[in-house]
Amino acid sequence: MKHQQSGFEFEVYDSIDALSKEDALLLNEAKQATQSAYTPYSNFQVGAMARLANGKTVAGSNQENASYPVGLCAERVLLSAVSSLYPGIPIDTIAISYHNDNGSSNRPISPCGICRQSLAEYESRFQQPIRLILAGMEGKVFIIPKAGLLLPLQFSGEDMK
Ligand code: THU
Repeated sequence: MKHQQSGFEFEVYDSIDALSKEDALLLNEAKQATQSAYTPYSNFQVGAMARLANGKTVAGSNQENASYPVGLCAERVLLSAVSSLYPGIPIDTIAISYHNDNGSSNRPISPCGICRQSLAEYESRFQQPIRLILAGMEGKVFIIPKAGLLLPLQFSGEDMK
């Protein structure tokens, strides 16, 4: 028997003011994207903004449904939009933020497990890392250098060969 460790390094910024101009712009656009969320059930609006390798940006937000499991997270709405609008173009960076009507919005968002799986597949499909900028409306900002780091031992197409 052997013990193996898993972990990763990421950047922690005290606020959006400490980010590069380009990253701060993308994060502000993600904050704006929360306004297109449809969240009558959770009142938790998430906005995601992708910057692609061709310089274009695309927005996504969470879209809920009276049949709760039908609802989609902002991240997967975004990936579907990017894949439809710009097929074949890799994503460079995704900024994600949220506004919580029921509480505070000052901690970096933590993408759910299903979205982590979707992000990891998009990344490996294009063989290019997707940087993630995770934030709330205020407070600290995390930058994860590669989306797949959020899902150690991820299941992939390789596992079915
Ligand atoms: N949600 C997202 O859109 N992204 C996340 O990273 C976390 C959760 C949505 C799903 C649901 O509409 C609401 O936030 C509350 O879970």
